[in-house]
Amino acid sequence: MSSYAPPAMTTPTTSTGRPRILTGDTPTSTGLHLGHWVGSLENRVRLQDEYECYFLVANMHAFTTMAEKTEQIRENTIGIVKDWLSVGLDPERSVFVLQTEIPAIAELTWYFAMLLPFNRVMNNPTIKTEIDMKGLGDTYSFGFPMYAVGQCADILAFRPELVPVGEDQEAHIEMCRAVAGKFNQVYCGVGNRVPVEEHVKAGGIFPVPRAKIGRVARLPGIDGINKMSKSLGNAIFLTDSAKDVQKKINKITTGRQSPTEPGDVNNILMKFCEAFLTEERAAELKRRYGAGDNIGDGHVKQELGEAINALLEPMRQRRAKLDGPEGDRMVMDLIRSHVRKANAVAEETLYLAKKAMKLDFGARTIG
Ligand code: TRP
Repeated sequence: MSSYAPPAMTTPTTSTGRPRILTGDTPTSTGLHLGHWVGSLENRVRLQDEYECYFLVANMHAFTTMAEKTEQIRENTIGIVKDWLSVGLDPERSVFVLQTEIPAIAELTWYFAMLLPFNRVMNNPTIKTEIDMKGLGDTYSFGFPMYAVGQCADILAFRPELVPVGEDQEAHIEMCRAVAGKFNQVYCGVGNRVPVEEHVKAGGIFPVPRAKIGRVARLPGIDGINKMSKSLGNAIFLTDSAKDVQKKINKITTGRQSPTEPGDVNNILMKFCEAFLTEERAAELKRRYGAGDNIGDGHVKQELGEAINALLEPMRQRRAKLDGPEGDRMVMDLIRSHVRKANAVAEETLYLAKKAMKLDFGARTIG
């Protein structure tokens, strides 16, 4: 007889009966921009009522590329939480998870690493793109590709149904789905033919989670060429002043000469209209723009600037309240107060997983 006992907090204090969401950000930098907003943040804010949400700061992942920059990782961690609060992620309704305070994630990472072929991790297109974009060559740490396995554990520790992410994360979610399915089959007796939606019903521990990609999968930067990105210098940040926002929008070039010249309705200006104006207004502008119906780029830019500023103004105001050491302290307190709630869920997952793996040797409690 096993005396393996469930963790003390088996009934999560946060349990709401709602399906769960988990998603997160890596604190390699702070300063979220409009690409993050339309790619993922907007979904997070909107889904907080319908779902029990867990938002994770992947600070351990930051060590995979900047292990020696401890002070910076710490600052960025606090900065990310401030970004979240300013866009409207609500710590009263949602749980903020600091990855390094959740030991179950690190443990699950080990077990999951055994369920993934080495080459599948190394051929993960998101990992490959990052090695290219960050110029990591062949000098990256062993831990760098490991983060993709870790991300499976970030997600599955909370057994969510939905993972709201930008398009660039799709490969990671695919891997996570493979791990969840494999675990359910290997350790929980779920048959090979059981469709993934029915894994839990068939005895699996892990729901096989789905990615939820944002309304705008890939927002171009103001250069009109690349994806919006801090490192490419083409981003509009959520903290930019109203004046800077308008200035940046005004910099957009389309090559169009006059308001009566039929414009390209797929150019960057029109893409921004689709992303930030109402659907009806964007459709009308596109029609007139394409027809050269007396609508100038300058006019469009003005209207866009105003719409974006209307979106950002409440965020700027909330952000201003979090400035300085007082704000830092408040964020630290918040993170600490949420650790228990997060561990309640993650420890329960670990308990179930180890039991399924016949590793039910001893109980433990993490406060
Ligand atoms: N890798 C993600 C990014 O760079 C951040 C992340 C870490 C994440 N763990 C996660 C996202 C779990 C979703 C789910 O954006």
